[in-house]
Amino acid sequence: MGKLDNKVAVVTGSGRGIGREVARKLAADGAAVVVNDLDEGPAKETVEIIEADGGRALACAGSVVEEGFAERFVQTAVNGFGGLDIVVNNAGYTWDTVIQKMTDEQWDAILDVHLKAPFRILRAAQPVIAAAVKAARAAGEPVPCRKVVNISSVAGLSGNPGQANYAAAKAGVTGLTKTLAKEWGRYNVTVNSVAFGWIKTRMTDVSAGEGTITVEGRQIKVGVNPELLEAMRTMIPLGRAGTPQEAAGAVYLLCAPESDYVSGQTLVCGGGFAL
Ligand SMILES: NC(=O)c1ccc[n+]([C@@H]2O[C@H](COP(=O)([O-])OP(=O)(O)OC[C@H]3O[C@@H](n4cnc5c(N)ncnc54)[C@H](O)[C@@H]3O)[C@@H](O)[C@H]2O)c1
Repeated sequence: MGKLDNKVAVVTGSGRGIGREVARKLAADGAAVVVNDLDEGPAKETVEIIEADGGRALACAGSVVEEGFAERFVQTAVNGFGGLDIVVNNAGYTWDTVIQKMTDEQWDAILDVHLKAPFRILRAAQPVIAAAVKAARAAGEPVPCRKVVNISSVAGLSGNPGQANYAAAKAGVTGLTKTLAKEWGRYNVTVNSVAFGWIKTRMTDVSAGEGTITVEGRQIKVGVNPELLEAMRTMIPLGRAGTPQEAAGAVYLLCAPESDYVSGQTLVCGGGFAL
């Protein structure tokens, strides 16, 4: 018996990094999970890992910023597993530079992936959740607690040089989270966010300039300057970066029944990193 038995979860950007570990953790506790990533390969790999561990998962590949993606994602959960109980908005990347060099394209791309995509996914989820709540009430059944966890960053709470676009998007995630917590209390949905500090993933692991990823046909540098990471390490009381598994643990807390009366909150997962 898992705590999330019979729950259906959707996790964006779960083909690697933190998202993959979130999908694995939810599935290990009984949830059926819809896995998403830009390309089919990583998404299918996560599905195979979950299935090999005895869990249930389906892939829904594609960019979260694509027109119609949100509806397709939600329908994959409904058609594949019969409902929607947990939404984790995690997909994203960084495209950094100082403000005087930041183009409109760079600003829009980061706002789209970190803020507009979660907005669209939650908008697409609303009719499904409202209908399920209505049906439960009509049948005289208790309305189960559903969960939304939006992924943010300490950059969105305190700012970070070179990340005007990312910090603004992640700060926006807090506003979206707090508003939805107020709108969706009537559906018994808790809406929270997790703001990560430094988690060791592809996003932060590669030295600046050494790695690029392709997103929507653009080549974008990944990784953080090693000197910056070293400076950050000295500011983290636990003295190290977090692992993707530890990051997933923080998300899991807000998906578990123990947090059924916690809503509208931001949980900082950063090894004690002080803002
Ligand atoms: N790693 C950190 O230190 C850190 C810190 C703060 C916040 N975060 C946040 O955590 C989340 C996960 O990041 P991560 O560190 O696991 O990075 P990651 O690069 O390891 O994983 C992110 C995943 O999202 C996918 N993705 C990117 N754009 C997408 C799109 N348009 N559609 C679908 N999938 C897309 C990528 O392909 C990748 O698989 C992000 O929202 C990130 O901003 C990470």
